Amino acid sequence: MKVLVIGGGAREHALCRSLSLDPDVTALHCAPGNAGIAEVAELHPVDALDGAAVARLATGLEAELVVVGPEAPLVAGVADAVRAAGIPCFGPSEEAALLEGSKAFAKDVMAAAGVPTARSYVCTTHEEIDEALDAFGAPYVVKDDGLAAGKGVVVTDDVEQARAHARSCDRVVIEEYLDGPEVSLFAITDGTTVLPLTPAQDFKRALDDDQGPNTGGMGAYSPLPWADPKLVDEVMASVLQPTVDELRRRGTPFQGLLYAGLAITSRGVRVIEFNARFGDPETQVVLARLRTPLARVLLHAANGTLDSEPPLTWHDDAAVTVVVASHNYPGTPRTGDPIEGLDEVAAKDAPHAYVLHAGTRRDGDAVVSAGGRVLSVTATGKDLAEARERAYAAVGRIRLDGSHHRTDIARKAAGE
Ligand code: AMP
Ligand code: GLY
Repeated sequence: MKVLVIGGGAREHALCRSLSLDPDVTALHCAPGNAGIAEVAELHPVDALDGAAVARLATGLEAELVVVGPEAPLVAGVADAVRAAGIPCFGPSEEAALLEGSKAFAKDVMAAAGVPTARSYVCTTHEEIDEALDAFGAPYVVKDDGLAAGKGVVVTDDVEQARAHARSCDRVVIEEYLDGPEVSLFAITDGTTVLPLTPAQDFKRALDDDQGPNTGGMGAYSPLPWADPKLVDEVMASVLQPTVDELRRRGTPFQGLLYAGLAITSRGVRVIEFNARFGDPETQVVLARLRTPLARVLLHAANGTLDSEPPLTWHDDAAVTVVVASHNYPGTPRTGDPIEGLDEVAAKDAPHAYVLHAGTRRDGDAVVSAGGRVLSVTATGKDLAEARERAYAAVGRIRLDGSHHRTDIARKAAGE
């Protein structure tokens, strides 16, 4: 099978790495990719937001499956353009991707499907904002309605900060604060059949001990030794299947990766958010543990034949990923700094630990930073403690001026 992956972050590197190890995959292409993906796939320049350009590229490459990684092209309808060219595409339509593209839309779908989530108000005026903030009290949860790369959400005890963020958005969702640990659960779906993946936990704040601003994600681990073994079945029944059924009922079936961001509260599981694509950095640990070859599953989802696929199988190994971010991330990051130590990780830590590139590019012989989240080091081990040790040993070999990373990824779950 000839496969084309659209995107160029660590998630796409993880997808390409898994696909490159899949015997069904005879040719692997990625556009635009990054310096790390170039080692496992042939790269092509493309404007990932331009559906016609992506469809032309896929046609020219005779791709038999296109996988659209990031949310922005999905929300821009790139998957529709590929399908219109007659090529199977893993990724939701523009209409179904609104589940991620609009928090207000997601709330409406959840209400219709009976999916448990935080109570919320959608506000567009100063009066509505003040009433909603008053109604819920602190801590305030204020979410920009549109796409914001994980940075549109402010959670704060400071009403002035909450109000200022709310007023800076065109349309804003203000909601009840959900207490309790967060879990990310992904499911692959063809619009009818839903195949859950294994749960992971993401670390959203920039600094250790969940301090600092929200980011796109600073690290992740899987499995979750503290979680109820029935969690996946419960979320399938109360969240994933009803959401997929509701979107099909509306005539806009969701085909692709449905990401449920969950809070495990004292009153039960609640949805914090949906995404319409593989999460980053959770994908790095989930795919590290996936035993089933990936390409056929994604093709079945794209073709509407997922019911013929047996349940996914998983390695017993634990996986940990640690994101190395640029100076000043999640603020405007500094880029163009050389990254050293990548060869040392390949020589000393593989195959248990490896680097997945996010914001990197080649500059002559050097690999330099090109984004906020620069790379993520992923490691596996017999348990979380071993995976953690291996991940941080490899992180320690990487030199990038001004970079920062969290030192507490999976620490609590490993019992340390
Ligand atoms: P989101 O972009 O919706 O995932 O929000 C980013 C992060 O903000 C989440 O991972 C949570 O840590 C936090 N957050 C979002 N909504 C809530 C909520 N209702 N209660 C508590 N924390 C929240
Ligand atoms: N890890 C959070 C996200 O992908 O949105």
